[in-house]
Amino acid sequence: MKETILKLLFRHAGSYLSGQEISDELGVSRTAVWKHIKALQAAGYQIETGHRKGYRLLPQEESLLPGEIKSVLKTRWLAHQLVHLESVDSTNIWAKKHHHELQHGALVLAEEQTGGRGRLGRSWESSKGEGIWMTLVLEPGLPMHDAGKMTQLAAAAMHQAIVGVTGLPVKIKWPNDLLVGDHKICGILTEASGELTRIERLLVGIGVNVNQQAFSGEIAAVATSLRIMMEQPVSRVALLMLFLEIFEKCYDDYVLHQSYGAVLRVVREHSMLLNQPIDVIRGDQRVAARAVSIHEDGRLEVVYEDGQSELLAGGEVSV
Ligand code: BTN
Repeated sequence: MKETILKLLFRHAGSYLSGQEISDELGVSRTAVWKHIKALQAAGYQIETGHRKGYRLLPQEESLLPGEIKSVLKTRWLAHQLVHLESVDSTNIWAKKHHHELQHGALVLAEEQTGGRGRLGRSWESSKGEGIWMTLVLEPGLPMHDAGKMTQLAAAAMHQAIVGVTGLPVKIKWPNDLLVGDHKICGILTEASGELTRIERLLVGIGVNVNQQAFSGEIAAVATSLRIMMEQPVSRVALLMLFLEIFEKCYDDYVLHQSYGAVLRVVREHSMLLNQPIDVIRGDQRVAARAVSIHEDGRLEVVYEDGQSELLAGGEVSV
């Protein structure tokens, strides 16, 4: 309930919401609302209480320090080992180098990356304190060909978390991008080690553009941030908490209970590619096709103009 009130306040950040409005919206008493607000204030959220006006969330000076995160973390196992780095080349690289110190479920977070990496050898701009730059360390014990399903799972969880906190119309561009309009807001870089029959370790690297106020040069044409889209700052902590809870639930459903249907529903329903004409990019070549389905195993089925179809496991497509 505390988190639901927080989400509501974030959606109305800067303006007052009365205790009555919150209690009507959530179906709890005003006294319960007041108690939850007190608990949020104790957890460090700056919530102003105005006489007869209600509650207003003030812009947050947030850090992703473990103490702060752990006081609001509600997961059963995910991110219980938490590494916070002020500055690092890349959280994925750091997680590889510190392999032996990290257990299943560990979360490596950085305020800044100086050599953030994207897919296909690209770089990923990761400015200080303005985004969520993180790597999840997982040991799902799945065969290697299921690694792509974990990228889809992360995309579905982040989609739900961003929509939950901001209400923005986010789309998923298979296999690993989240966009608002045609501007990228989140990218996922999944790296697996192990053998064909069994993934030993999976590093799910995720970058979310949260509070950048502008982008420079070529990036401005393709990227945006939640803050730019919302025209107000967005809480990295609230977004991260919601993401971790959703990710943990999806992961347990899939790995422990072989239930992947909810992830598939999200990536299919919010796909920006399905039933669209697309280009499949192979080096310098672009081949016109139509995206027809995202399969259970996370692969994208495309049909070319000559009627041939192909299942793509990765690579690049454009709309
Ligand atoms: C892409 O869109 O190509 C993937 C971008 C992935 C960026 C994240 S930020 C945290 C983690 N560390 C990295 O160096 N990359 C990923």
